[in-house]
Amino acid sequence: MEVINNKRELVASINQCKKEGKSIGLVPTMGALHEGHLSLVKEALKDNDVIFVSIFVNPTQFNNSKDLETYPRTLENDLQLLKEAGCSYVFTPSVEEIYPEPDNRIFDFGYLDTVMEGANRPGHFNGVGQIVSKLLTLIPANKAYFGMKDFQQVAIIKQLVKIIKSDTEIVKCPIIRESDGLAKSSRNALLTIEHRKNAPIIHASLKKASTFVGDKNVKDIEEWVINEINSNQYLEVEYFKIIDEDTLQPVDKFENHNGVVGCITVQAGNVRLIDNITFK
Ligand code: PAF
Repeated sequence: MEVINNKRELVASINQCKKEGKSIGLVPTMGALHEGHLSLVKEALKDNDVIFVSIFVNPTQFNNSKDLETYPRTLENDLQLLKEAGCSYVFTPSVEEIYPEPDNRIFDFGYLDTVMEGANRPGHFNGVGQIVSKLLTLIPANKAYFGMKDFQQVAIIKQLVKIIKSDTEIVKCPIIRESDGLAKSSRNALLTIEHRKNAPIIHASLKKASTFVGDKNVKDIEEWVINEINSNQYLEVEYFKIIDEDTLQPVDKFENHNGVVGCITVQAGNVRLIDNITFK
């Protein structure tokens, strides 16, 4: 496995792969790797001759400096896991390497970033757009892999590739969960013992809510989920929205939409946990 931390060497490796006619998979990450990331790596290895995993805690997508400061960083362990997984190249640039000067680009994602994470974390998706567009330009992969835990992020990135006219195919990969149902996330490591113990209630509530379709209406299901989770003293719902899977806009009735998803963010102490469930 080759570890690269500058653009010059990265471009040379990409050119070599292209010259050899190798297909390239890209797995962008912010490190603190867990089985969720490794499932993306596995999928990418299945589809491509070589894969590049990027590890970069992107400052422009953090709208809260404390969150950026405390984001888990476990580079040595990440490199070990990637080596064991059979990864070909890891790109671990510094902030200066990626942003030699400030990136002032503003992306227009239409309505996609006006709701949920976009509404609650101003500038977050613009920052995601900045880093992912830079990575896709530096690493023009055949396919790039993203986890569906960040449901809205995947929709934004699919829109981004249209905006920047990238040929890379965006591959959506399923959520990987702990045995008690909690969605795997780098942030789980920051939970206190009590918050970790109670966090599985989020997925359990979403799963139960999905059985109500046909009996309860959208508004009642939203209220039920919020009340169910908020009745736990360690958890506080930031939002729970039942949305159309393509437009991400709130739905009125299930029967008026083809794909419907429930997206949630819950504050568990100092940690924001994100999850979602397919209703239809
Ligand atoms: O999902 C993430 O880890 C990040 O948002 C991404 C896509 C790697 C961009 O920094």
